[in-house]
Amino acid sequence: MNLNVINIKELGGILPAGTTALRGQEMRTFSTIENAFLTIENGKIAGFGTMDEFSQNDHQTLDISGQCVMPAFVDSHSHLVYAGTREEEFNLRLQGASYEEIAAAGGGILNSAGRVATTPQEDMMAQSLRRLERLVAYGTGTIEVKSGYGLDAENELKMLRTIKDMNALGQATLIPTFLAAHAVPAWAKEQGLNDASYTKYMLDACLPTIQKEELAQFLDGFIERDYFKLDALQHLIEASKASGLPLKIHVNQFYDIGGIQMAVAAGALSVDHLEVMTSEAMQSLHGSNTIATLLPSCSYFLGIPYAPARELIENDTIVALATDYNPGSSPGGNMQLVCNMACAKMKMTPAEALNAATINGAAALNLSGRKGSITVGKDADLIITKPIPSLNYLCYDFGTNHIQTTILGGHIQ
Ligand code: NIG
Ligand code: FE
Repeated sequence: MNLNVINIKELGGILPAGTTALRGQEMRTFSTIENAFLTIENGKIAGFGTMDEFSQNDHQTLDISGQCVMPAFVDSHSHLVYAGTREEEFNLRLQGASYEEIAAAGGGILNSAGRVATTPQEDMMAQSLRRLERLVAYGTGTIEVKSGYGLDAENELKMLRTIKDMNALGQATLIPTFLAAHAVPAWAKEQGLNDASYTKYMLDACLPTIQKEELAQFLDGFIERDYFKLDALQHLIEASKASGLPLKIHVNQFYDIGGIQMAVAAGALSVDHLEVMTSEAMQSLHGSNTIATLLPSCSYFLGIPYAPARELIENDTIVALATDYNPGSSPGGNMQLVCNMACAKMKMTPAEALNAATINGAAALNLSGRKGSITVGKDADLIITKPIPSLNYLCYDFGTNHIQTTILGGHIQ
């Protein structure tokens, strides 16, 4: 469909072609024009400018006086596909149990793994599609989705095939990641496997099928003192080199065991979480191309520290924001709320937050050639807001949905 969107109050997220990511001080400006138009042709952004530059053509025209437009959000870290929910664990945490204690007692990731194993694939897909539909209404256009609740080859592949089937429906763009090392399950412990040998087993068992069926674009592991340590990360690094699947690593959520330094040295695409930082970890990210993906709604929900966003930005790092949508530590996937939390709790400015949630999210998925900005030739994945004073308002007035329409690949959703 070809479409003109006219009388846009504020059009934001405009970037020159070829911009891959914004780092440090470059994040300060979310480039906008007022009283603008934007033209969509064949699913791509074909042109934009101020209204006095607009000339009528034969496309359908949408007049949105008083409303704003920006690129759809790129949520570069989620666990959107899962079965069942864990509100009972939330209740336990409120009564004093810690996330780690619940996990040690067979809850947490193991709880979700049990549900993934016993839920038919169609049912898990239906549950996940309901969540995705809601996220699209909140303005998400692209979302990375991890496996990681399978914990054996059969169920990891079941998760990845579910992501692939959802992507084939052609609504939002889903980018699959093989989360090979999330928790060591009981069967593996009984066989004498530890965190590192289980990781190696899972990589060897799953990667041939993943590559044959094109089931994942990235590799991930939960690198943490009580989950997977540096030997496991070394297996992931080797598998990444052998398979060509870049690394996106959960790291420094609870403790610093040196995972960031090792992941950065190995050329990881992103390191995610970073609630606990040391000067060595910060130093390794200085000027690096590895993206720091921050997940404020996880900090909010677990009551753990927020990642030091200001320090990272001043450290000349590329910072992205994502939801970490999952049933345990972030049971919500609203990127508008994530942007609000990034501002209110991590002192990012609205411009920094919006850049982190669009172009830098795209960069964290190697997608900045196609997504994450208003640039001629990019996919027409756009948010049209309700009537609001400015795009910055998205980061300010929290708790309601400010999106009226999400356009994906030029199609109104
Ligand atoms: O990113 N940190 C590890 N994994 C998820 C939580 C998984 C769960 O609790 O189910 C996260 O926060
Ligand atoms: Fe996560």
